[in-house]
Amino acid sequence: MDYSRLSMSLGEAIFTQRSIRRFRPDPVPLTDIRLMLEAAVRAPNGSNQQIARFLVVNDRATIREFGTLYHEAWWAKRRDEGFQQREDLPPHFHASAGLADTMTEAPCIVFALALDNGPANCVIPAVQNLMLAARAIGIGSVPTTLHPSVMARFHAMFGIPDDVSFHFCVPLGYPQGNFGPNSRKPTSATTYLGRWDAPVPWE
Ligand SMILES: Cc1cc2nc3c(=O)[nH]c(=O)nc-3n(C[C@H](O)[C@H](O)[C@H](O)COP(=O)(O)O)c2cc1C
Repeated sequence: MDYSRLSMSLGEAIFTQRSIRRFRPDPVPLTDIRLMLEAAVRAPNGSNQQIARFLVVNDRATIREFGTLYHEAWWAKRRDEGFQQREDLPPHFHASAGLADTMTEAPCIVFALALDNGPANCVIPAVQNLMLAARAIGIGSVPTTLHPSVMARFHAMFGIPDDVSFHFCVPLGYPQGNFGPNSRKPTSATTYLGRWDAPVPWE
């Protein structure tokens, strides 16, 4: 596989990656989709059994139909948490609420799935590889999930067998707005050295 197009430094890709939820309408070229998938499957996976599967959707009408289901799923998650309507939502949900409204317009979506009802850890490294490769070629992404209440309809919509588990829905497209930096707690607040609660020797 020719990966020379992924020439952005790893540091730049990692440190400027952030969730992109607003996309320009331009389609994502199939060659770029392939490159992201080739990067995804290079990820470590349990015993190299490679049970992750990826379903790429770039048909406008299908994405529109799925977007309606995504909106329902997003609100089902919020209702489980006690939020009934937009006015109830705390600010940290505002961006993802916007995505729930506009998933219908995403240029491309990759679903990360697993054979034999495999767990999420079968696909998580691959999804991160996919999103970093996307970043390196200027394509934005965000990992998102669904809700059990839509899962049967999701499987039916795409002809996915019952024993294939869903893990992530990753919309992809050229960003409206900019990539990173993102905002994180300092590592000195999230890392210990040698023993729980023992500080690391940096600020
Ligand atoms: C397991 C997982 C599930 C997520 N689910 C959603 C989601 O359903 N909708 C969404 O808009 N973002 C989702 N995100 C993205 C996070 O909200 C985002 O990574 C976080 O707020 C940090 O923002 P940043 O990526 O811009 O730095 C998810 C991220 C992870 C790791």
